Amino acid sequence: MLRSLFLAAAGSARLERLVESVPVSKGIVQRFVAGGGADEVLRVTRELADDGLAVSLDHLGDDTRTVEQAVAARDEYVAILAGLHGAGLTPAAEVSVKLSALGQRIDEKLAYEHARAICAAAAEAGTTVTLDAEDHSTTDATLETLMELRRDFPSTGAVLQAYLRRTEGDCRELATAGSRVRLCKGAYAEPESVAFQSALDVDKSFVRCLNILMSGEGYPMVATHDPRLIAIAEDRARWFDRSTGEYEFQLLYGVRSEEQGRLAAGGNTVRIYLPYGDQWYGYLMRRLADRPANMGFVARAVASR
Ligand code: FDA
Repeated sequence: MLRSLFLAAAGSARLERLVESVPVSKGIVQRFVAGGGADEVLRVTRELADDGLAVSLDHLGDDTRTVEQAVAARDEYVAILAGLHGAGLTPAAEVSVKLSALGQRIDEKLAYEHARAICAAAAEAGTTVTLDAEDHSTTDATLETLMELRRDFPSTGAVLQAYLRRTEGDCRELATAGSRVRLCKGAYAEPESVAFQSALDVDKSFVRCLNILMSGEGYPMVATHDPRLIAIAEDRARWFDRSTGEYEFQLLYGVRSEEQGRLAAGGNTVRIYLPYGDQWYGYLMRRLADRPANMGFVARAVASR
C-alpha cells in the first residue's frame, strides 16, 4: 500500500515541486545521493574506491521532455567520464544511464545516438556503461538499443528486473559470453499483466533468473540488499564454480553500508550505485517505496530541525 503511494508520488510533478521546496529535503537526500555536482561525486567516488568498492555513477534525471535536456544529460555523462579518467578512478568507476534521460520518449534514435556518444567516451576513459531498466513500456526499446550498442561496445551492460514475467526469457537471451547483466527486483509500479505482484513471487523469480545467469556464460551483477538473495547468490556462485572475479554484487549508495563492507572484505567485487545531481525527487521516492520504514529517517530529520 505505502509502496504504491510512493511510486505514484514519484510521477507527480506537483508533489515534486512541493517536496523540493522544503529545505529539510536536502538533508534527507544526502543519505542516498552523492551531491549536486561533479566535484562532490568525484570526492565520494574516491572515498568509496579507497574503501575497496567499485562504483557506477548515475546522473539523476529521467523522462526528459526536450532535446536540449537530453543533450545536456549526454554532455554531463561525457564530462564526468573525462573527470573520472583524469582523477584515475577508471576502470573501477563506470556509469549507469537511463535512456529516458537521453530522450527515449522524444525519439528512440536520438537516445541511441546519445548513448553511443557516452559509450564512446566511456571506452576512451577505459570503462563501461550500463543501461538502467525503467518501466516495462520501455523494456523492448532499451534491449534493442543495448543490442545495437553492443556491436561496437560489447561490454555495455543490461539491467533486468525480476518482477517482470518476461525476465527469465531475457536472462536466457543475455546469459552469453561477454554479456554483463545486472539483476534487480524492479522499482516501478507495474500492472499484474506484466509483473509479479507479491514479494514472494518476485523473490522466486529473482532466484530462477540468478540460476540462469550464474550457470550461463555472461557476467552476472547481483543488485540487491536482500540478505536471503545475497546468500543464495553466494551459494549459486560456488555451485557453478564461479570465482569472485566472475560476478559481482551491487548495492545502492546509503543502503546497508555494513553489508557492502562485509561482502568486499570477503573478496567479492562490490559496486556501489552512486546517484548525483539535482533531480533527486523520483529517485528518493523509489527508495522510500523500497523501504517505507525509511519514513522514520525522514521524520527524524524533520524533528531535528
Ligand atoms: P528489498 O526491497 O526486499 O530489500 C531487502 C532489504 O534491504 C530490506 O529489508 C532492507 O533491509 C534493505 N533495503 C532495501 N532498500 C532499502 C532502502 N531504500 N533503504 C534502506 N534499506 C533498504 N531498479 C530498476 O527498476 N531499474 C534499475 O535499473 C535498477 N538499478 C539498480 C541498481 C542497483 C545497484 C540496485 C541495488 C538496485 C537497482 N534497482 C533498480 C532497484 C531495485 O529494483 C530495488 O527496487 C531495490 O534494490 C530494492 O530491492 P532489494 O533487492 O534491495 O530488496
